[in-house]
Amino acid sequence: MSAEVEKVVMPPAPAPVIAIDGPSGSGKGTIAHRLASLLGFHVLDSGSLYRLLALAAQHHGVALDNEAALQVLAGHLDVQFQQNAAGEAVIILEGEDVTNVIRTEEMGRSASIVAALPAVRTALLHRQQAFREQPGLVADGRDMGTVVFPDACLKIFLTASAEARAERRYKQLLEKGFSASLPALVDDIRSRDNRDINRPVAPLKAADDAIVLDSTQLGIDAVMERVMREIGQLPELKRHLRNGSAA
Ligand code: C5P
Repeated sequence: MSAEVEKVVMPPAPAPVIAIDGPSGSGKGTIAHRLASLLGFHVLDSGSLYRLLALAAQHHGVALDNEAALQVLAGHLDVQFQQNAAGEAVIILEGEDVTNVIRTEEMGRSASIVAALPAVRTALLHRQQAFREQPGLVADGRDMGTVVFPDACLKIFLTASAEARAERRYKQLLEKGFSASLPALVDDIRSRDNRDINRPVAPLKAADDAIVLDSTQLGIDAVMERVMREIGQLPELKRHLRNGSAA
């Protein structure tokens, strides 16, 4: 009698996630994009979803404290993340290019107001998790390592003093030809930090297993070097990168 060998088919391992959390202006968006292009991973700028919701609310005349209406809007956000011919990210909301519109200070402020509402966060959770695809994802935000991708293989919490972050934003605005007030930017960053840190759901905080990096005195290249060093210490991720897909 021939013994039947039962074949066990293992489900494929989920795509690896690198979570980069931290306050506004810490440089996490730049690091996330650099890392994603270096590793060939997808990228999720989760803050853009909260900014898009704030803009959609403005378009539809929904108040920023109307949690029930915002929840419905969040569940039906008509958004496309595309690339233009130059390979730059383009965000389309309800058929309109809003790539630059959502980046204003006003939208950042409104985003942090809607982001404090529990029903909004729940409505956007699966949308964020759907970005997890092979060969991997670099996700940046406030709660990537704590709530959205708690099983991320690497969690970085990138921070910097409010003054340093405001100064970076100030320089960016001047370079783009906008006028700006440094003290007003410091105030704005502080009040956004307060709202993000003190909200009851998914507050801005480092996951217990996150590596905390302070970029106050570090340039982007130095931060990238530190992150690459951490990646070099992860044998599973290195194997995954060598194989070009999940093992
Ligand atoms: O990162 P960004 O500045 O674009 O985010 C805008 C706002 O969205 C933040 O101030 C924060 O309140 C909110 N946010 C969040 N959770 C995330 C990403 C952003 O609450 N994962």
